[in-house]
Order: sequence, then structure tokens, then C-alpha cells
Amino acid sequence: MYNSKYSLLILLFLINSIVSSNADSGRKCSNTSSLVGFESDFKMVRHQLRGHLKILDDCSFHVTGFDMLSGSSDVVFWGAVSLNFSNITGGFPISDQRLNQSAYKNASFSVQLLPNISWDQINVLSIWDVVNISDFGHVTLHQNGSDSVPDSVRTVLDNCKNLSDHYRVRWSLNVEENWIEIGLEASTPATNYMAFGWANPNRTKDLMSGADVTVAGFTEEGKPFADDFFITAYSECKLNSKNSTAIGVCPDVVYENSKNGIMVNNTRLVYGHRRDGVSLIIFRKPLNSTDEEYDLPVHPTEEMRVIWALGLMKPPDEIRSYFLPRYHGGSEKVTHGHLVLNVSEKVDDCLGPLAADDNEVLDLIVASRDAPLVVTTGEALNYPNPPSPTKVLYINNTEAPVLRVERGVPVKFSLQAGHDVALYITSDSLGGNATLRNATETVYFGGPEAEGVVASPHELIWVPDRNTPDQVYYQSLYQQKMGWKVQVVDGDLSDMYNNSVLLDDQQVTFFWTLSEDSITIAARSVKKSGYLAIGFGSGMVNSYAYVGWTDDTGGHLNTYWIDGKHPSNLHSTNENLTHVRCKSENGIITLEFERPLTPSCNDSGKPECKNIIDPTTPLKVIWAMGSKWTDKHLSERNMHTVTSQRPVPVLLIQGSSEAQQGLQPVLAVHGFMMFLAWGILLPGGILAARYLKHIKGDGWFRIHIYLQYSGLAITLLGLLFAVAELQGFYVSSLHVKFGITAIIFACVQPMNAYLRPEKPAHGEDASSKRLMWEYFHVITGRGAIVVGIAALFTGIKHLGERYGAENVHELGWALVIWFLVAASIVIYLEYHGRQQRGRLRGSSNWVLGNVEEEDSVDLLRPNQALTQKGSDSSGVMEVQLEPLNR
Ligand SMILES: *[C@@H]1O[C@H](CO)[C@@H](O)[C@H](O)[C@H]1NC(C)=O
Ligand SMILES: *[C@@H]1O[C@H](CO)[C@@H](O)[C@H](O)[C@H]1NC(C)=O
Ligand SMILES: *[C@@H]1O[C@H](CO)[C@@H](O)[C@H](O)[C@H]1NC(C)=O
Ligand SMILES: *[C@@H]1O[C@H](CO)[C@@H](O)[C@H](O)[C@H]1NC(C)=O
Ligand SMILES: *[C@@H]1O[C@H](CO)[C@@H](O)[C@H](O)[C@H]1NC(C)=O
Ligand SMILES: *[C@@H]1O[C@H](CO)[C@@H](O)[C@H](O)[C@H]1NC(C)=O
Ligand SMILES: *[C@@H]1O[C@H](CO)[C@@H](O)[C@H](O)[C@H]1NC(C)=O
Ligand SMILES: *[C@@H]1O[C@H](CO)[C@@H](O)[C@H](O)[C@H]1NC(C)=O
Ligand SMILES: *[C@@H]1O[C@H](CO)[C@@H](O)[C@H](O)[C@H]1NC(C)=O
Repeated sequence: MYNSKYSLLILLFLINSIVSSNADSGRKCSNTSSLVGFESDFKMVRHQLRGHLKILDDCSFHVTGFDMLSGSSDVVFWGAVSLNFSNITGGFPISDQRLNQSAYKNASFSVQLLPNISWDQINVLSIWDVVNISDFGHVTLHQNGSDSVPDSVRTVLDNCKNLSDHYRVRWSLNVEENWIEIGLEASTPATNYMAFGWANPNRTKDLMSGADVTVAGFTEEGKPFADDFFITAYSECKLNSKNSTAIGVCPDVVYENSKNGIMVNNTRLVYGHRRDGVSLIIFRKPLNSTDEEYDLPVHPTEEMRVIWALGLMKPPDEIRSYFLPRYHGGSEKVTHGHLVLNVSEKVDDCLGPLAADDNEVLDLIVASRDAPLVVTTGEALNYPNPPSPTKVLYINNTEAPVLRVERGVPVKFSLQAGHDVALYITSDSLGGNATLRNATETVYFGGPEAEGVVASPHELIWVPDRNTPDQVYYQSLYQQKMGWKVQVVDGDLSDMYNNSVLLDDQQVTFFWTLSEDSITIAARSVKKSGYLAIGFGSGMVNSYAYVGWTDDTGGHLNTYWIDGKHPSNLHSTNENLTHVRCKSENGIITLEFERPLTPSCNDSGKPECKNIIDPTTPLKVIWAMGSKWTDKHLSERNMHTVTSQRPVPVLLIQGSSEAQQGLQPVLAVHGFMMFLAWGILLPGGILAARYLKHIKGDGWFRIHIYLQYSGLAITLLGLLFAVAELQGFYVSSLHVKFGITAIIFACVQPMNAYLRPEKPAHGEDASSKRLMWEYFHVITGRGAIVVGIAALFTGIKHLGERYGAENVHELGWALVIWFLVAASIVIYLEYHGRQQRGRLRGSSNWVLGNVEEEDSVDLLRPNQALTQKGSDSSGVMEVQLEPLNR
């Protein structure tokens, strides 16, 4: 008992506090203002705002039937002196109530004025979006007559009925004056007609035939129209040119041609607008028309069948000067329908605003590469985000259109808007130099110098780049709200990036733009896939991978260091990527990112810190694609299904890939020269020294010298070629290491030949110095050849790895065969020499390290060799370099 009383008390207290907080009963209000009791509907400007205002007393007002689509988070009741742009933008909030609900549907509430605000400060009461400086709707309070022209437009009629989810009919009836005012409201494209009318009461099916309808819509210029139609057949309007009769869905005037002087066009347009993608057209028609043939009488108190439709219009052409409806198609209740209506019954089943598209673009200008955009100013007639100054920007004679530009495609402005309008492209939606409003903005283009007049247009080119946001604004630097939106869409990747190459198999295109210390990279596959990965490295293993994929939450890009073939070898890295994007268009994945060339860390424990891009060396790029990726729980399923077969070395500075150019000619020359030197001349010279000693005089020696020197010269030339082509000298690869060693050995030879000690006199034993030298010369010489040959082979291998030249294998085998043939000749010569010696001495004299010229046997002229052998029997160490002594 006590409990229930107690809770009742609490309940009463709660109710009281709720009521009092709403009505703010704490403040006593007088009723002195002449505006107390004033009532008016709001004039809709945007956001499908409808409602009725009543001023209650000196400090509050009441709003009923309030509909509004949500605006920004800062929509307020706003007071202003007048409706003109500077006065209304210079207005002030009149209450601390925020209208930030998602959507208002037939709401009613009381609003308290701020304590320091009184009605005499307010001539215009607006619902105002502070963020976008946007008037959603207003009431003019006719206080001092400055805005004395009443808004005759009513967007609310007495009744409203939903025809479908996107189509409503509103009407007001005046039986005494014999008219009905009908408002057709639909969220439908501007190119669609809205049709509504009465069916012939004698019909129960095929309701269209004999029906009297009104067709309403907007012309291309955005002007509303409403025409009186009569349906004679279930078809589009057809004219018979022989007897000039019409059949189908035709305007009344087409049937009659007003030949009897009867007015057949009896529908009068009252008002029309298109806001937020919703068309509203109000027209008036007589209930009882004087035209009995093509109009049906509307009985105000009877139930009558009405029909309606939405569909595409056929614009006027040379033959017909009317908009004609096309067959609506579609299904019942969506594009067409019928119902029974008694127009004198009160109906209002329209709750809240129609689902509308706030971002509907009425005027769109698409910039193209070569067409200049002529920027002028003109009168504000239909500015998309009212209010606006009286003068606004026109582009190509369109008032404040949405401008669509493509990233990477230059936009040419021809500025003719006058010296007082400086165009700029800004992140700020209002323009007029946001700094002056204490706001921040990013200026993408233009500025004080971007102005010109018709007599001398100023041409400027703006290139939106890949980092330009999707939406920016073109505005004047000196006046707010003269321009409107710029939609920045992705252009062709090839427009947005300076360079591109096709990766292996031509399945993935790699795009990049190099800047001083960063690089922007994009990759796109030609095939559909669930993810796309590119990697820097020679293979999947030991590569830095960038994986882009999309899912329900959008596009993602992750970076990894891969050090094995198993999913567990995939290590997520933390690279400092910026401007990351990944999107999938029809299953084709494009990923984009920007990264510093050198990571800003030097923590050796983190692999990503070693992921340095050096633009001067070719960047090896590989790719992989697969069906599904996730940033958690990677498994075998995430492993690639298609990959590149080989890395493509990308020359970042030159803007090409090496493979695309094939084997570079200079490197080919390098290879050939080195083969000539190390495969023919230098070994030839050594063989000459060993096997041609029999040639009379110093012939063998000359051959030896010529071959070695020319070999050395060609080697040095070949080295220069390689260094010049690669624009630098990198001692990183095995090939270079072998090559350098071989060249050093080879260069030592002429020097030590110069320093060689005296040849021993005939018959004398060689001095130990001489002996040492001989050993040294021979060993370095042969060592050089061995290392040089190794350099040839590693060179070919390198060629294969780095340039992916296809014929590398054949080249390698050819080289192997060449040296095998050479080796077998040497073996043959040695064997033959051994036999000769054996015959001569009866025993082999093969001592390791003691195999010098002593063993040389001239197979071609064995006699001389024999004589020489005879005379040189003194020592096996004899080295015949005597010509040098001369
Ligand atoms: C603002 O309104 C007042 C009164 O209606 C008017 O005198 C004044 O010119 C307006 N201001 C501007 C900048 O137009
Ligand atoms: C409907 O039928 C009646 C009787 O046949 C006729 O008088 C009337 O004119 C018809 N109405 C129309 C609109 O055709
Ligand atoms: C006009 O011609 C069409 C076909 O040629 C015919 O069906 C129709 O009855 C004619 N109308 C008149 C009024 O002669
Ligand atoms: C009907 O009359 C209105 C206003 O008088 C006019 O705008 C419209 O073009 C006319 N329609 C036809 C089909 O002639
Ligand atoms: C309208 O039609 C009814 C009959 O349908 C007739 O009685 C009435 O007089 C008509 N009114 C006008 C204004 O034509
Ligand atoms: C804008 O107008 C200029 C001059 O009339 C024309 O050359 C250009 O093609 C137009 N640009 C676009 C995008 O229509
Ligand atoms: C905006 O005005 C400030 C202060 O006058 C000036 O420093 C700034 O350069 C202006 N901004 C632009 C884009 O001209
Ligand atoms: C901008 O901020 C300064 C200092 O805070 C202030 O004096 C000035 O009135 C502000 N201007 C505007 C337009 O709000
Ligand atoms: C990324 O930037 C942060 C802060 O500048 C730095 O600490 C980190 O080492 C950077 N990481 C890489 C991979 O560059």
C-alpha cells in the first residue's frame, strides 16, 4: 500500500519534471509582442523540411507536423534580419535546441528562445545548418514589411496519401470554386514523369483506357510542367499524319487541336520544385470541366478509382512539342497502380519525408583533358546549397554545377569571372578564405592570381593527383558560397602515375611515381582475384610483400616479410605507408600506397627497417594472386594460387623494366668482349706460350704478348661498358667479385713481366729469383684464366637472374662446350707431348708444379722440339723467355 503510493508519487514527480523541462516552466514569459499567435508553414528549402510554426509568447514557439531529413550535427533555429545572403549568414542561433535527430517525422515540440533573444530581433526564422551554412527552410515573420511578398507556396496540402513507397499524392479540395489542387511528390529521377488521374467510372478492368490523367515532370532546364492528358489506347501517343488523328496516351490538345474553340488544356501548374532528389509538382484542375470529351468529372464526395504511374519521359522533338510518357513498365505498386479515393475524406498517411537522395546531382560537368572549363559568374537562380550570394560561379554556362574531374587528368580553367572573383580549389565547403573564419582549409589549386575577365581570359591548368581527396570545392577566395563541389574520381592509373610496367606474364601492372624521398606505388591485376600481392625480392622467399584485398568492411592493405614457403613464414611488418587504398572493381583489385624510400628506423631486428628502395638499382618485383586473404589466421588457403614466374627488375628512374627491353645491347657487348678476352685471347696466349715454343725466333713470344695485351685491353673496355651501362660500380654479386679478381690477376702479369729478373745464361742454372718469378708468372696467369672463366659463367648466371634473358641456358651450355673442347685439345696436346717425351727419355717426367715450358712440345714441328730438348737437357726448370732479355 505504502509502496504503491510512494511509487505513484515518484511517477508524478517524474512526469512533472519531464513536462516542466520541455516547457521550461521556470521562466515566466510575457505576451507583449505583436507576433504572439502568429502562425505559418515553413517554406521548404532543402532536406524535405515541412512544418508549421506558431508563436506562443514572447519567448517560445511551437512547431507541429515537422518533417526533416537529417543534416549535420549542428542544425539550429536561426534568426536573421532578412533573407538576403549576408543578412541570413550573419544571423544568430535563437535557441539552444539542436535538430540533430536522424529524421523528423511529423514531430511536434515547443522551443524556448535564448534569454537574450526577443521576437523583434527576428524577421526570418530559419532552420539552419551551421556547419554547411545551409538554410533548410524558413518562415518570414512579416514584421517590418521588408519581405512582404508572402510565400504563396504551400508544400503541405490538406490531405496526403501514399501511392507507393516513393510516390505520394497530396490534395486540397475547393468544391465551391470547383477545383482540386493536387500535389504529386515522388523520389524519382528528374527524367521521370509522374502521372495521376481518374479512370473511367464505367470500367472495372483495363483502367487506363478512357482515363483522364495529368502528366507532370521537369524539362531539361529544370522547369516544372503539368499537362492534361487523355488515354485513348494502351500505347504511347501516336499521330496519324494522314487524317491528323492521335491515339494512345496523348495530351488533350493533340486530339482536339482546339478546333472548336473549347479549352481542352484545363490543368494549371501551381508550383514545382525538385529538392534532394524529390520532385514535387502542384497543379489545379477543375472538378467539372467544360471539356466533356477528354476530361472526366470528379465527384467530390464519391469514391472514384484513380490510377497513377511513374516512368521515363520522351523529350519533345520536331514533330511533337510535348513531353510524352513512355510505357512505365515495371511491377504494380512500384511504377503504376490504382486505388479508390474519395477526395473529400480527410487522409494523411504520409509519415515523415520521402526517402530522398540528399546528394542528387542535378548539374554535372565532367572535365575532360582538352576541353577548357569556362568559369564565369551569373545570377543565383537555383544554387544547390541555399542561401547563396546573388552572384555565383557558372561553369560552361551552368550554375554552380558539380564538377567531376579525374585524378591525373589536367583540368583547364578559362577564368572569365571578373577581377573580384579569384578561383581556388579548397577543402573548405564554403570558400571565401576559410582562414578569415578561423577555419583551416587545404588549398589545392588557384589563389588570388586565378582571375580573369571575358576580354582576356586567364587559362590555368589544375592536375588533381592521386592524393587529392574525393571531394573538394571550387570557390571564390573573396566571397563564400559562390561555387560548389568537385568530385574527384580515380582516373586511369596510367594518368595518375608517371610510370608503369607490366610484370611477369603480363598479368599485373606496376605503376609508380618517384619523388625525392618517397615513392607512390600502385598495382592492378588484369584478372579477378580475392587478393593481389606484390613483393620486392627475387622470389616469394625473402621478399617484402604488400597484400591488398577487400571484404565487407572495405579495402585493406597489409605488409609482410616472407622468409619461407609456409604460412608461418609470413611475418606481418609495420611499414609507414600513407595514402593507402585498395579497391575491387568487378573483382579486379587495385592497390595503392605511398612509402618512404628509406624506412625511418634503423632497428636491425625489424626486417621492414631493411626494406630500402634504392632508385638507382633495379627493383625486383614479383606478384601473387589468390582467392581469399585475411589479416588473421593465415593458412594454406591464403597461399597464392597464381604467381609470377620470375621477378621483373624495374628501373625506377628510367621508368621501364629491364626485361621489357630484353637483354640490353651494351651488356651484350660486355659479355661478348669478355668472352673474346677470357674465352679466346688470354687462354690462347697461354697455350701459345706453352705449345708454340718451336716457332722460329721469338714468334711464340710475340703471339703470347699480342694475345695477352689485346685480351687485357678488351677486358678493360668491357669493364667500362658494364660500368657505364649500370651507372655505377657495385661489388655485390659473385660475378663482379670474380671479374674483379680476374682483372687484377691479369693486370699483375704485364707488371711482373716488366720486373722479371735476368734470364740465366745458356747452360747456367736459373737463379732462384728467376725461378720464383717464373712460378709466379705462370700461376697468376693460369689463376687469372680460371677466375676469368668462373666470371664468365657467373656472368651468364647473373644475366639469367637479373634480366631473365631467355637464351641464358643455351649461352651457358655453349660456353661449357667451348671450354670442354678447349680442355680436350689441351689434354690431347699434353698427352701427345708426354708420349713424345716418353719416347725421348724413356720415362715420364711429370712433376707437379714442374710442368712449365720444359714440357712444351711442339707437335707441329717435333724435330725442333727434339733439338731443343737435347740442348736443354740441363734442367727441367728451363723457362724460355729469353727474347725478353734482348
Ligand atoms: C540587412 O537587412 C537590413 C534590413 O532589412 C538592410 O537594411 C541591409 O541592407 C541588409 N544588409 C545587407 C548587407 O544587405
Ligand atoms: C458511363 O456509362 C453511362 C451509362 O452507359 C453513360 O451515361 C456515361 O456517359 C458513361 N460515362 C463515361 C465517362 O463514359
Ligand atoms: C484515321 O486513320 C486511322 C487509320 O488510318 C483510322 O483508324 C481512324 O479511324 C481515322 N480517323 C479518322 C477520324 O478518320
Ligand atoms: C497547358 O497549359 C499550360 C498553361 O497554360 C501550358 O504551360 C502547357 O504547355 C499547356 N499544355 C499543352 C499540352 O499545351
Ligand atoms: C458539374 O457536374 C454536375 C453533374 O455531373 C452538374 O450538376 C454541375 O452543374 C456541374 N457543375 C459545373 C460547375 O459545371
Ligand atoms: C566548356 O565550354 C568550352 C567553350 O564553350 C568548350 O570548348 C568545352 O568543351 C566545354 N567543356 C565541357 C567539359 O563541356
Ligand atoms: C586568407 O587570408 C589570410 C589572411 O589575410 C591570408 O594570409 C591567406 O593567404 C589567405 N588565403 C588564401 C588562400 O589566399
Ligand atoms: C577568429 O579568432 C580570433 C581570435 O580568437 C577572434 O578575435 C576573431 O573574432 C575570430 N574571427 C571569426 C570570424 O570568428
Ligand atoms: C615509422 O615511423 C615511426 C615514427 O616516425 C618510426 O618510429 C618507425 O620506426 C617507422 N617505421 C618504419 C618501418 O619506417
